[in-house]
Order: sequence, then structure tokens, then C-alpha cells
Amino acid sequence: MNKEELINKGIPKHVAIIMDGNGRWAKQKGEDRVFGHMNGVSSIRDVLKAAIELGVSYLTLYAFSTENWDRPKEEVDALMNLLVKSLLEEIEELNKNGVSLNAIGDLKQLPDNAQALLKKSIDLTKENKVITLSLALSYSARWEIMNATKKIAEKVKDGSVSPEGINEEMFSNELTTVGLPDPELLIRTSGEQRISNFLLWQLAYAEFYFTEELWPDFDKESFFKAIASYQVRERRFGKISEQIENE
Ligand code: IPE
Ligand code: IPE
Ligand code: MG
Repeated sequence: MNKEELINKGIPKHVAIIMDGNGRWAKQKGEDRVFGHMNGVSSIRDVLKAAIELGVSYLTLYAFSTENWDRPKEEVDALMNLLVKSLLEEIEELNKNGVSLNAIGDLKQLPDNAQALLKKSIDLTKENKVITLSLALSYSARWEIMNATKKIAEKVKDGSVSPEGINEEMFSNELTTVGLPDPELLIRTSGEQRISNFLLWQLAYAEFYFTEELWPDFDKESFFKAIASYQVRERRFGKISEQIENE
């Protein structure tokens, strides 16, 4: 796929990805699930590079859901260790490439060492402007929406906000994605066609792209293909075609 052509047709500002299929990928190779997760890290590297080349400003990756805490302990532990190991290995390179690291989700549930390292890495890269890479960790959209509701309810209680004064912007500002524009494109690998509690509020008008490819097989070319698919969609936002053409 020609990179320049893609760029000329308009690149989404924010791409979100549900990186799925690591376990099945490993099983197909007769390996254990953790082998799949380890190989998934190189797909992240490829996709991040591809996103930077195209000029995507925000990349958000679903790395661990709150529901994933219910997996066997050995797998959860391996994933947490992989997070720490990958951060330690990659952070210098990320920083050099102008990546600003961010994390969304119920981060307090993460092991202390992962929380501390995330905080340090986010801090180190906070002035970077090339791309914002958000990792969704211990993330649940329903948790996030409930949490935002509680925070706004507190403000109503103390009188700083009136019920009529609650609006979409105020709500968005209480989500862990505060400061990120809504994704225009959601990619999910591995053939599953569901949202699995990811960004329920933020994906209201996103385009969805599903591919059979398992996450460890997903590479730069796969990402370019997803962008090309996005570019031929007509985003109507409730209007009719003729209105969109005249805009
Ligand atoms: C996605 O791959 C990674 C995480 C959820 C952490 P899976 O581990 O869900 O792989 P499959 O879906 O079982 O193949
Ligand atoms: C979604 O994948 C979460 C991540 C990719 C981190 P799952 O594999 O956990 O989703 P379900 O359970 O198949 O819907
Ligand atoms: Mg899965």
C-alpha cells in the first residue's frame, strides 16, 4: 500500500485498537498463551511506527481489561511482568521518537511496580509531541462511565454544578480519556466482532474495522489496509449523503 497516497486521502487523528488473538496465535504454534503475548509486543512496535509515518496523532491500545483479571493467575502475572519488562526496554526509544505515553483505566488495580514505572514513563515523555500512545490497562468502559457519574454527582452535591448544567463536555472531562479526541477508527483483530467493554462513550461515531488476522501477525501493512478501508467510508453523522458532499 502506498504511504503517500494514504496520507493524501486524510488520516484519522485517533485510532483505537483491540489487540486480540494472542492466545490463539500461540496455540496454533503449539506454544503457551504467554508466548503469544510476548510476540504481540512486536506488533505494537510495528503499528506505532506505521501510525507515526502516516501522521496519526493518537493511538490507543486495549492491552488489559478489568475482565482479564479473571484469567488464570499465571497468565495475569505474566502479562503484568510483560508490561513492566516492555516498558523498561522500550521507553528510551519511545522518548527518542517523540512518543508521549499515556495510560487509561483503573490503574490503581495494577501491581505497585507497574504503577510506579508507568508514572515515571509518562512523566518522562509528557512533553513529546509526535504521537500520544495510550495504553488501556485494567480498563472497563462501564467502570469509567460510572466513575465519571460519581464525580459529577459529588459536584452536584456540593453545589458547584447544577443537574441542568451537566453536558457532554463535562462528562468527557471526567473520563480517563480526558484530553483525547474521540477515535475515528476502531480496529479489532482475531475475527471477533464485539467491543468487550472498550471506550463505549468515545466510540459513539467511530468506524469499525474487523480483521481475521491475529494480533501477533498484524503489522505495518495490516495497519495501512485498515486506514485505506476507513478512507472509503462515508461518515454521515446522521445526515444524508448530499449534505456531506456539499460540506
Ligand atoms: C489479547 O489476546 C490480549 C489480551 C486480552 C491481554 P488474547 O489473550 O485475548 O488471545 P485470544 O483471544 O485468547 O486468542
Ligand atoms: C479484549 O479481549 C481485551 C483486550 C484485548 C485487552 P478479550 O479477549 O479479553 O475479549 P473477549 O473476552 O473475547 O470479549
Ligand atoms: Mg481474546
